[in-house]
Amino acid sequence: MVKIAVLVSGGGTNLQALIDAQSCGEIIGGEIAAVIASKPGVYALERAKNAGIPGYVIARKDYSDSRAMTVALVDKLKELGIGLVVLAGFMTIITNEMVEAYPNAILNVHPALIPSFCGKGYYGLHVHEEALKYGVKVSGATVHFVSEECDGGPIVLQKAVPVEEGDTPETLQRRIMEQAEWKLLPQAVSLFCQGRLKVEGRTVHIAE
Ligand code: GAR
Repeated sequence: MVKIAVLVSGGGTNLQALIDAQSCGEIIGGEIAAVIASKPGVYALERAKNAGIPGYVIARKDYSDSRAMTVALVDKLKELGIGLVVLAGFMTIITNEMVEAYPNAILNVHPALIPSFCGKGYYGLHVHEEALKYGVKVSGATVHFVSEECDGGPIVLQKAVPVEEGDTPETLQRRIMEQAEWKLLPQAVSLFCQGRLKVEGRTVHIAE
């Protein structure tokens, strides 16, 4: 069984999708062993508690810099025996120490079709604001492995979602969550836990 840690910063709807998938037996070969929040009081921690999953807080403000916070995070993950780290709306900068400790074992969900609307500064609602500003007719979500480059790691799964007339950042965000993020993230996690993801350069092969 792969022990999974889900890192969160906010509402935690993607965490909830993972919890629900686990309850339905859809996370094959893995179990959510910990939820780690970047600040106290976030609703995602409540979701973890309701599901009986241990919750922890590792906050940037308690450390001198991002590196020190990342090292503390890695120490915690190792102590818990975590084999897969999932960034599910985790909005704090983590440094290379994390990628070095978990090469091709950190998954991130991004609310756009990478390489569009991604990279430094593109997070949360802002991604959808930019997509609407640009006038795209299709956006979507991407689950990818985390590498040194922000939003630049090998892509595991993507799903396109249409932009509709009159969309606001909020309505587009909701549609992308419902139609793409909440489906792709549990699928990718399950594929990882079954050992079916093989990374070759930038390409992720999915074994049958
Ligand atoms: C999600 O839309 C996720 O894709 C996005 O933040 C939201 C978190 O929602 N992540 C990023 O923008 C990362 N670059 P949630 O807390 O309800 O899962």
